[in-house]
Amino acid sequence: MTIIVNFVKFHKTLQRIINSTQNQLGSVPLARMHFSASFVGALFVATIYQVSGLSKIIGQYGTTIVVPCNNHGANSKDLFMTKWKYEKRDGSSGDLLVKKQDQNISIIATDDYKDRVSMDENSSLLISDVTLGDQTTFTCMIVEGNDIAEKPVQVVVQKAPSKLEISGQVEELEIGKLTTMGNCRAHNANPAADVTWFKNKRPLVADGKGIVVKTSVEVNSTTGLSTTSSILQYTAEKEDSDTQFTCVSHHPAGDDLATAPETFTVTYPTEKVSLEIISDGPVLEGDNVTLKCKADGNPPPTSFNFYIQGAVVKVENSDTYILTDVTRDSTGEYKCALIDNGNMEASENITVNYLDMSLSPSGKVVKSAGESLSLTLQTDASGEPKVSWTKDHKKLDKQPKFDKLTYSDSGLYECEVAIGTLVKKDSFEVVVEGPPVIRRLIKQRGEDGQHKVLVCEAEGSPKPSVAWSINGTLPYESSFINGKITHKLTIVPPVNLTVSCTVSNDLGQATKAINVSTLFEEVRMDKQDQSDENDQTKLVVGIVVGLLLATLIVGLAYWIYMKKSKQGTWKTGENEDGSSEESKKLEEKLEDNSQKAEV
Ligand SMILES: *[C@@H]1O[C@H](CO)[C@@H](O)[C@H](O)[C@H]1NC(C)=O
Ligand SMILES: *[C@@H]1O[C@H](CO)[C@@H](O)[C@H](O)[C@H]1NC(C)=O
Ligand SMILES: *[C@@H]1O[C@H](CO)[C@@H](O)[C@H](O)[C@H]1NC(C)=O
Ligand SMILES: *[C@@H]1O[C@H](CO)[C@@H](O)[C@H](O)[C@H]1NC(C)=O
Ligand SMILES: *[C@@H]1O[C@H](CO)[C@@H](O)[C@H](O)[C@H]1NC(C)=O
Repeated sequence: MTIIVNFVKFHKTLQRIINSTQNQLGSVPLARMHFSASFVGALFVATIYQVSGLSKIIGQYGTTIVVPCNNHGANSKDLFMTKWKYEKRDGSSGDLLVKKQDQNISIIATDDYKDRVSMDENSSLLISDVTLGDQTTFTCMIVEGNDIAEKPVQVVVQKAPSKLEISGQVEELEIGKLTTMGNCRAHNANPAADVTWFKNKRPLVADGKGIVVKTSVEVNSTTGLSTTSSILQYTAEKEDSDTQFTCVSHHPAGDDLATAPETFTVTYPTEKVSLEIISDGPVLEGDNVTLKCKADGNPPPTSFNFYIQGAVVKVENSDTYILTDVTRDSTGEYKCALIDNGNMEASENITVNYLDMSLSPSGKVVKSAGESLSLTLQTDASGEPKVSWTKDHKKLDKQPKFDKLTYSDSGLYECEVAIGTLVKKDSFEVVVEGPPVIRRLIKQRGEDGQHKVLVCEAEGSPKPSVAWSINGTLPYESSFINGKITHKLTIVPPVNLTVSCTVSNDLGQATKAINVSTLFEEVRMDKQDQSDENDQTKLVVGIVVGLLLATLIVGLAYWIYMKKSKQGTWKTGENEDGSSEESKKLEEKLEDNSQKAEV
């Protein structure tokens, strides 16, 4: 750019002018001036070359910007003249305003700038409501004394995007398929904003295959502002169900903007079907069994075909089928499959456990003692059942046998068979009956010797009643157990008596008698004949004690004899007890022994 200024000058050499200009401009290398004298007298032609180094200021769109003038902070009042001009689109120069010393600022612009420009005291140019149309070079020209300076400033207008938004996004992503996920647009920025996609806070890098990003910039023909749009195409994987996608814009004139994280439903077809049998423990007859068909696709299928014992049952809006009250006939293979793809199927076998029992006899069985009773237990079960027996609620080791019934066989028999939690029970009651018999009738002497106790033991069922032929005291009756009953009667017989015990029940009766001697006579009698039973015992004891004493005496005598013969001081030719031959043999043997001992 060449500017020619004419000045009336005095006596200053060209060099001085240059020097002073350099001083004045100081560190500003932007303008270098070359003055050359020319033509007429004191008329100077000053040529100002602006060779290099435009300074640049950045203004925010829509605001008022301040374009500084390089006047070293001098007040424009003190300057001979300040003028601002700008470079038009066609390259020509347009004047904006001028201020001469002692005059007001005069706006000389005639275009759009005439209402938007002003200047402050330090000569800075103020431009309000800047738009992209203001991006050009503004030049400040000052004249001070003899010096002329010009300073061009390039104005750049920036604008951060007004908003960032995603449009046209899909809701579902089909696995393995390149899908346009949305168009992210950063609106009306200058320069155009950078738009980036993030997956779980990590930038997505386009690889041209699974991830494709198409970025374009639109410039508004009126405002010149740019809208960046970035279309993301993405191939989802199964793991992307919870992945968060975000779009972020970056711009030098503002903070980064980010869209709210978006998640997508990832859809994929079923690859595997499984059938689940839901039951608490093994399936038992009478149970309800739930069949649940599961497919791993997303969204999961809502309808299934169940194959129930040869029949196809279509279940809609559910994945379960309930078999109610299963029986042993329900045992078998069950299947489920996808409705639209029969090859996607799963099967499971269901085994229904069952247990039947039949026990004979049953109810109440009445039998006579000595008879036999046959017992049969039959089971029909899906496995080997465990059998246990109780009699009158007490555990039995094994199944009872009744070859020859006794009264003790009477009772309540219960049998339990079980397979796991499947349990069946049955029971029968055995009653063994028989006419009473007297097993024992005895008399005992009372401890004080003043009375006698009669004991009558009877057996029979039902419980026999017991009757004595005489009255006594302290009658005692034992409990009736296993068909046995014991009666006791205390008596003081005044004379020798014959006492009978009579037992009877519905089935018959029995009587037994015993002779009881009077106590008074016995007292008179010798002690040998005390109690009718004890007397004999005493006699036996006496004989035994006598024999023992005799043996002891013989043993002692033999011991003394042996001791003497061993010492060799006492020899007998004759022996009253044994033969002489025997004695000799014994002596020889003893001598042998003593010789051996001496060696
Ligand atoms: C000029 O003055 C304004 C305040 O009116 C100030 O903000 C600006 O920095 C000054 N410019 C220069 C170049 O001194
Ligand atoms: C069910 O049982 C049948 C016959 O025993 C057998 O062939 C089949 O493999 C079983 N199916 C499953 C799922 O176990
Ligand atoms: C036993 O006593 C009753 C009355 O208590 C009486 O009637 C009966 O005759 C007596 N029997 C004998 C054998 O003494
Ligand atoms: C009683 O019985 C005893 C034997 O047991 C006999 O010696 C005695 O003479 C009997 N007395 C009477 C009075 O019959
Ligand atoms: C009781 O004694 C009588 C004779 O006094 C006799 O005939 C009878 O057999 C005896 N009975 C018993 C059970 O001993």
